[in-house]
Amino acid sequence: MKQPFGQNYPGPSRLQLLMAAHRIRHDIPVYLQSLAEEHGDTVFLPLNFPTWLVRNPADVKHVLVSHAAHYHKTGALRADQDFLGEGLVSSAPPLHTRQRKLMQPMFHRRSINEFVHCIKKTTLEQIASWKDGDEIELTAEMMELTLKIVGRTLFSVDLTGEAAELGDSFGTAQRLVIRRMQKAPLPRWVPTPANFRYRKAIRRIDEAICDLIEARRRSEEELPDLLGMLLKTRNEDGSSMGDRLIRDEAITLLLAGHETVSNNLSWTFHLLSENPDVDKALLEEWIEVLGERTPEMDDFCRLPVTDRVLAESLRLFPPAWILARKALEEDILPSGLRIRQGDEVILPPYVIHRNPAFFDDPERFDPARWTQEMKKSLPTGTYLPFGVGPRYCIGEQFARTEAAIVLSTIGQRFRLNVLPDQRIGREAMITMRPRYGLRVKLEAREVTG
Ligand code: HEM
Repeated sequence: MKQPFGQNYPGPSRLQLLMAAHRIRHDIPVYLQSLAEEHGDTVFLPLNFPTWLVRNPADVKHVLVSHAAHYHKTGALRADQDFLGEGLVSSAPPLHTRQRKLMQPMFHRRSINEFVHCIKKTTLEQIASWKDGDEIELTAEMMELTLKIVGRTLFSVDLTGEAAELGDSFGTAQRLVIRRMQKAPLPRWVPTPANFRYRKAIRRIDEAICDLIEARRRSEEELPDLLGMLLKTRNEDGSSMGDRLIRDEAITLLLAGHETVSNNLSWTFHLLSENPDVDKALLEEWIEVLGERTPEMDDFCRLPVTDRVLAESLRLFPPAWILARKALEEDILPSGLRIRQGDEVILPPYVIHRNPAFFDDPERFDPARWTQEMKKSLPTGTYLPFGVGPRYCIGEQFARTEAAIVLSTIGQRFRLNVLPDQRIGREAMITMRPRYGLRVKLEAREVTG
């Protein structure tokens, strides 16, 4: 059985980490990938708290599925309680177990089916002003669109007027949480410019959520959406959920529900612009299966190219690019690695999805690799854009449906050509987005709905 010997275990030394500070700050997914390439499936990172980078599927499955109860959430999600608090993404059992059970019905196929019309309508509104030859900043458009969609579907509220500003506040808050994790930070009450910007962003988000809750309470309207359900829920003693928890759940759902899908769409359009043959095959599929219609739920099983393109985009650019856990007790992974109580384990889909043992030529965008046989042959823990185990994404079906509808609704009408002479980089926060945005030129297509 292997024993971890701190810095003697395969991985960078403290000095090497220090020397890589710039790469870590600017492109941490690629840095972690280079560590896996150099050192293999298990890498030790001598950070302030001992951290293991794990890539082998048996270990991934052990931590996230079979022994999930021995590991809790950690990292950026829990780093700053002011931001996501005890929402579903960051909370621990038993609170998490109770809240997950409560919210699950909102994400059943039946509920998602009812969102389809709203997703299509909101997409058509977003692109109503787009014209042939226009140049647009795609990531901002996608953030706005997905925020509006989650606002309308889960909260029955129209965020049209505030989507851009609210989206910026989510980005700012996240960026500053991550920056704090990378440095020895001053307490939040110290009046630094960063703390000031953080407070302002959180205040803006809090105000929007409080307005939402207040407006709903005043209207006394009982809407069958997520907010209505949170407000109606009673604890066993008859008390209500509590404003702080409602706020945490609402912010978590707004964030998790819009940024991920938005980034997935931006990266997908980027890949399609770079791969005109795939783009052409997609268009042909839409023409053949949908004609001039936008897709309905029942169409998805008849859109295999769309499915593969999105699967491959999620492989190369998983919006939730890193998963992190803290060991609650000592444990031994299937690879023989001994994890001590309090050790951190990071399992980055960005790295796991590039394991050459499971994906040939892993950097290549190749939707055709997603055959039924290939899907069946992949062991648990090799492809996990939506996570796996008890904390897997509650919004997976919602996200897949939304991405397919937005992609086809836009793609039937426009080809999006990424403008040359711009830097394309990754900004890895809680989610991974194009660092410098993505400027595209619109090329109108004949097919219109
Ligand atoms: C492409 C889009 C999406 C991706 C790639 C994605 C990815 C993920 C991943 C990897 C996790 C597991 C995190 C972990 O194990 O640490 C997760 C959890 C979660 N996601 Fe998503 N997600 C997406 C869309 C959505 C949407 C649309 C919603 C809601 C409307 C949502 C809500 C959540 C919530 C609440 C959790 C926490 C679940 C729990 O811990 O019980 N996600 N997501």
